[in-house]
Order: sequence, then C-alpha cells, then structure tokens
Amino acid sequence: MKRILIVESSPRGSESASRKLAGKVRARLEAQYPEARIAERDLVHDKLPHLDEPALQAMTTQDPLEAESLKAALHLSDLLTEELLSSDLLVIASPMWNFGIPSSLKAWIDHVVRVGKTFNYIGAKVEGLAKEKKAILILASGGVFSEGPWKSWDTVEPYLRQILGFIGIEDVQTVRAEGMNIPPLAIHAVPNGEKAVEALVI
Ligand SMILES: Cc1cc2nc3c(=O)[nH]c(=O)nc-3n(C[C@H](O)[C@H](O)[C@H](O)COP(=O)(O)O)c2cc1C
Repeated sequence: MKRILIVESSPRGSESASRKLAGKVRARLEAQYPEARIAERDLVHDKLPHLDEPALQAMTTQDPLEAESLKAALHLSDLLTEELLSSDLLVIASPMWNFGIPSSLKAWIDHVVRVGKTFNYIGAKVEGLAKEKKAILILASGGVFSEGPWKSWDTVEPYLRQILGFIGIEDVQTVRAEGMNIPPLAIHAVPNGEKAVEALVI
C-alpha cells in the first residue's frame, strides 16, 4: 500500500460520525503502512464547483483544437482524477442526506468519473480504468439501513458500490455508523463502527 486517498464530506466537524470513523481508519492505516502517503480531499473545507458548460464541452468535444483551447476548464477535474488514479486505496466518508450522498460528494464523483480516464467504452460495453484499487466506504446515517424495514431505502451503499464498480473498483468494504438519530441506538453507532474498522481487511 503506497498511496491512500481519503475523501471526507460531512460538515459536522468533530460531531461527525463518518469523520470520527475515517480518523480511526486513518490511524489504522498509518500504523499498518507507515510508508504510505495519505492524501485527504476534504469536500467541506475545500469546496468543489459543479461541472459547468466549458468543462462539459471540454470533456465531450471531438475536435482536438477545441479540446486544446478548453484544457484549462478541465484542470481541476484532471487533478482530482489523477489523485484518484494514483491511489491504491480510496476511503470515502459520507453522511446519508435525504436518502442519498451530500451534493459535495456527488460533485467529486462527477469530476472523477471521466470517459478515457477512469472508464472507457468498448463497443456496447464499459471498461473501468481505475484498476487494482480497493475502497472503504464509511457511512453514517440517522436511521438503520443495513437491515430491517428501511433496508430498501439504502440508496447510499448500493450507489457508491455501483459507481466505483463502473470505474473498475470492485474490492469495496463498508463501515457504518447507523441509528445516529435514534437515541437508544445512537450511543452504539460509533463504537459499532469502530469495531467494524478493526475488522477491515487492509
Ligand atoms: C441535511 C440532512 C439530511 C439527512 N437525511 C437523512 C436521511 O435521509 N436518512 C437518515 O437516516 N438520516 C439522515 N440525516 C441524519 C444523518 O445521516 C446523521 O446525522 C449522520 O450521523 C450524518 O453523518 P455525520 O455524523 O458524519 O455528519 C440527515 C442529516 C442532515 C443534516
């Protein structure tokens, strides 16, 4: 393990369960891989713009001259994509917001899921180009979604696994802090997540 990228998206600072657990994962990685370079992409402290018209045009143009003139519009996306592609392990820490991920994390995904960079079309098929990488998802939610009556509302883990699989990252483990808004469960949510961090195969 040489390079690790941690993506954070909760604005709740030290109150954030996903940040607490990401810290725990980081501490484990630092102890286990002292030589590894760990980069942190904090989407709250370093806000990303959404994809705009010049960026989309630069991504889709077939004209090499136009592509050259629009190069600057992709500078940030290129940087984020390179940051991902140069990592062996990706850690994504995300709260559940309105049964989805925060838009800051979606913006990051829109910047890094790039044809020709992280995936390619081969005829009617798609090939993920972000190969030989592992990922850890750290998911915090007010309710419980891994089991029980709300399981079918769990859009976050399936979506993240699907989009990572699309770009070639299939080896994905999940750590959860669930029931953060349910008082009898909330006190166990982070400790349960910490146990799951200890059980990660990394
Ligand atoms: C704007 C917002 C929307 C939320 N939407 C949901 C939701 O749809 N389902 C849920 O179970 N919890 C929801 N919650 C609760 C959070 O998932 C919960 O507080 C979790 O701990 C957030 O992660 P964090 O502690 O890392 O910030 C929401 C919280 C906020 C602030």
